[in-house]
Amino acid sequence: MGSAWNNQWNVGSAIIDSEHRNLLAMAYNVESLIGEGNISAVTDELEQFEYWLCEHFENEEEIALAIGFDFARNRLEHQKLLNEFLRMKNKLMSNGDRLSERAAKRYAHFLDEWLVAHIVKEDMLMKPMLQTHAYSFLPDHKAKPEAPLATLAWNNRFTMHA
Ligand SMILES: [Fe+2]
Ligand SMILES: [Fe+2]
Repeated sequence: MGSAWNNQWNVGSAIIDSEHRNLLAMAYNVESLIGEGNISAVTDELEQFEYWLCEHFENEEEIALAIGFDFARNRLEHQKLLNEFLRMKNKLMSNGDRLSERAAKRYAHFLDEWLVAHIVKEDMLMKPMLQTHAYSFLPDHKAKPEAPLATLAWNNRFTMHA
């Protein structure tokens, strides 16, 4: 099981990078909870993951549109992941106790492998355009104090991997 953030996965936006780190940390957490066979903890964590995944997709799209990046393909990939994720979540929730160890492992790895693959193949394409902006760049209405608070609070949930 991997657990470290690789700085090569940074795409040049403070908010996107920290959301990616947090999502990956959650995916690893799901993975170890599955390993422990703790299905009720897994479903709780999956609910959290889903919430923050959707939050991230929205934030990422807003930032992409604000810098003029064509987000169509990235958005399509997000929709595909969300569908896969919901299928996986339903399966885990309805068959959790009877889930074979192999199936459980595959589900756990699906999350972190998808995330990293998506970051490297799709989100990374935004990097050249993001780098023409400040690392802390936020779309105007996101710059209001209340907007980033959820993410800031969320950041404290995890110890960052260097
Ligand atoms: Fe994305
Ligand atoms: Fe992303």
